[in-house]
Amino acid sequence: MTAHPVIPQFTAHNGFGLPAIGLGTYALNGDAGADAVAGAIEAGYRLVDSAFNYENEGSVGRGVAAADVDRAEIIVTTKLPGRHHASAQARTSIEESRSRLGLDITDLHLIHWPNPSQDEYVQAWAALVDAQQRGVVRQIGVSNFLPEHLERIERETGVRPVVNQIEVHPYFPQEEQLAYHREHGILTEAWSPLGRAKALLDESVIAEIASAHGISAAQTVLAWHVARGVVSIPKASSLAHQTSNLAAAEIVLDDAEVAAITALGRADGRLFGADPRSHEES
Ligand SMILES: NC(=O)c1ccc[n+]([C@@H]2O[C@H](COP(=O)([O-])OP(=O)(O)OC[C@H]3O[C@@H](n4cnc5c(N)ncnc54)[C@H](OP(=O)(O)O)[C@@H]3O)[C@@H](O)[C@H]2O)c1
Repeated sequence: MTAHPVIPQFTAHNGFGLPAIGLGTYALNGDAGADAVAGAIEAGYRLVDSAFNYENEGSVGRGVAAADVDRAEIIVTTKLPGRHHASAQARTSIEESRSRLGLDITDLHLIHWPNPSQDEYVQAWAALVDAQQRGVVRQIGVSNFLPEHLERIERETGVRPVVNQIEVHPYFPQEEQLAYHREHGILTEAWSPLGRAKALLDESVIAEIASAHGISAAQTVLAWHVARGVVSIPKASSLAHQTSNLAAAEIVLDDAEVAAITALGRADGRLFGADPRSHEES
C-alpha cells in the first residue's frame, strides 16, 4: 500500500483541528459520488464536505461507510440551507442531515449562507448550539459569514464558530477576512480553492512556480492555501486528481512565491459575484 502524504493540521480556538486539505463534493452524487468519496478516504482524505443543498448527503455517508478506514478518523461536514434557518425548521433539518448521512453524529455542521435580508441566521446558530449540546453534532461553524455576522451570533449566544467556510482562491485572497479569523481562532476553509480549475490554472505566475517545484498548477494553488493557514476542500472526481491534490499538503512555497500568487487578487475576484451582504441562498 502506498504511504499517504503527511497532512498538516490547523487548530481552532477550542482545540478542534482540521487537516489542511479535505474533499469538496459539490456534484459528487449517486453511486459515482459514493465511490469517489470512498476512494478519496482510502487515498488519505480525512475531511469531507457536503451540504443539504448538494443533495448528496446520502452518497457522502455511503462513501464514508464503505471506506476501509475507521469512522472516528473522518470529519464529515454538512450545511444547513437558508430555507431552514427558523428555529423549528433548523432543528429538523439538522436531524434530517444526520439521517441522510447515516451517522449517529455529524462531525461539523455549518450554516450555509447568512442570508442577511431574511435575518434568521441567529435562530439557525442557536439551533446548532442546541444540537451540539444534545450530542447530535460534534462541532459547529458557519459559511459565507462576514465579521459583522460572526460578531452578532457570538454576542447573542455566547458561542463562537470553529470554522468559516468562504470563497478563497488567488483571484480572491480575502486578506482582511483571513486576518480577522486568525485573530479570533476561527479556521478558514476555502471553497472553490482552485477557482473551479478555469483560467486561474493557466496564469503564468502559477506556471512558473509550478515548473520551479516540478508540480502541477493545481498543486501550486493548493500549496499557496496551506502556506496561508487555510484549509482547502478541492472537489475532484477522479482518483488521479484527488491523490495529486492531497500530495500538495507536503509542498512548501517560500514567502515570495506566496506573495506573487496573492498578487493575482482583484477586488471583483469572486467567481460568480456571490457577496454575502446581498446573496440569498435558499
Ligand atoms: N460554502 C459554499 O457556499 C460553497 C460554495 C461552493 C463550493 N463549496 C464547496 O467547496 C468545494 C470546492 O469548490 P468547487 O467544487 O466549486 O471548486 P474547485 O474545488 O475549486 O474546483 C473543482 C474543479 O477542479 C477540477 N480539479 C480538481 N482537481 C484538479 C486537478 N488536480 N487538476 C485539474 N483540475 C482539477 C475538478 O474536476 P474533476 O472533478 O474532474 O477532478 C472540478 O472541475 C465544493 O465541491 C463544495 O464542497 C462550498
